[in-house]
Amino acid sequence: MGETAKVTIGDQTVELPILKGTAGPDVVDIRKLYAASDAFTYDPGFTSTASCESKITFIDGDAGTLLHRGYPISQLAEQSSFLEVCHLLLHGELPTADEFAKFEHTITYHTMLHEQFDRFFQGFRRDAHPMAIMVGAVGALSAFYHDSTNVDDPSQRMISAHRLIAKMPTIAARAFKYSQGQPFVHPRNDLSYAENFLRMCFSVPAEDWKPNPVLTRAMDRIFILHADHEQNASTSTVRLAGSSGANPFACIAAGIACLWGPAHGGANEEALNMLKEIGSVDRIPEYVQGVKDRRYRLMGFGHRVYKNYDPRATVMQKTCHEVLDEVGHGDDPLLKVAMELERIALSDEYFIERKLYPNVDFYSGITLRALGFPPEMFTVLFAVARTVGWIAQWKEMIEDPAYKIGRPRQLYTGAPPRDYVPVEKR
Ligand code: CMC
Repeated sequence: MGETAKVTIGDQTVELPILKGTAGPDVVDIRKLYAASDAFTYDPGFTSTASCESKITFIDGDAGTLLHRGYPISQLAEQSSFLEVCHLLLHGELPTADEFAKFEHTITYHTMLHEQFDRFFQGFRRDAHPMAIMVGAVGALSAFYHDSTNVDDPSQRMISAHRLIAKMPTIAARAFKYSQGQPFVHPRNDLSYAENFLRMCFSVPAEDWKPNPVLTRAMDRIFILHADHEQNASTSTVRLAGSSGANPFACIAAGIACLWGPAHGGANEEALNMLKEIGSVDRIPEYVQGVKDRRYRLMGFGHRVYKNYDPRATVMQKTCHEVLDEVGHGDDPLLKVAMELERIALSDEYFIERKLYPNVDFYSGITLRALGFPPEMFTVLFAVARTVGWIAQWKEMIEDPAYKIGRPRQLYTGAPPRDYVPVEKR
């Protein structure tokens, strides 16, 4: 055995192996602890627990680093495209020109939905939150693609991955159109992934959507920035759901449900609502005081892993300015509030002490609003982008020889054993 850690419980000492990754902290392998000592470990929120081994994404929260398959997110956001990043996450390498052409063709030719699928949307109320539609509709894909739900077949796993990446924008655009009371727009094979999505959202029968390279590039970049993020809550949900052998469409629906929460993907919607509530720069000090009095949290600030500036936020801030200039909202009062709030928070002891920096969601809300999306669509866009990360992580788990059903244990603090009392004696 290499380096080990020793745990002493009562008069018993257990020696545990220490595992070393390519980067990141050492990991104490506690798998044998229970058998050797009859003790569990306790870690609600998994703040000190590595739930799996992974080769996909690496985050150094103190340094503010995010790497996909070793490549820094800033380089991918500046120089790559979302579909290229999808290939990288799924297959482990950036594609050659031929590989990319084949991959792009595959995704493009899976974007259509079965005609009967569209009837699902009619079952929702017009005012349904689009994330509610996403949870239902993506789960329903399992009922349409029986030929790719055998998780033990590698080729079926890959077809499911392609179908999910390809169909998510079509489903998301339909959820949006449904809420607007507008007819669905079908995908077009001559457009890029981001262009297709924007057109499916913003074309109406009376007027076709006009391509705009700045806005398309911004959409593509937003997809890149949200593509994967290691073992976050929704990804861990997808892995846990998948660990029972559930089909990938059902697993991704579970991930979408988890993403919806305001502490995770719902934060971009909340961050924009917060900026609107503050309304003007002169109200910021009063709002910041409310945060310090713990009446509310600063949405779009703080992160479980980043204790430094979120590297995605840097790119997002730049993209935000580009989009606002392009659509002529360069003097958007919410942008002014955001920039001043960021300045104040970054120089305030309360936030410095707790290492609270803007995260990716701080600027994404303003950007998405300028692109024409209402706040309830923000988390949907996050789900479209994160699908590739979820499915790449799900595939990696199924293909890992150490994979077994996820089954955490607990610290039981309920009633000790007791006898049933008949109702007349209670
Ligand atoms: N505003 C004010 N105070 C905060 C915030 C915030 N946004 N986040 C954390 N804190 C304080 C918290 O009150 C606590 O202070 P104290 O030690 O005095 O009690 C301290 O910082 C640590 O907080 P925590 O809740 O233990 O931290 P966590 O790692 O569990 O929380 C978080 C991470 C993202 C849930 C949290 O920072 C938060 O609620 N942020 C706002 C929501 C948000 O923007 N989420 C998006 C995350 S990025 C997108 C994604 O990956 O989904």
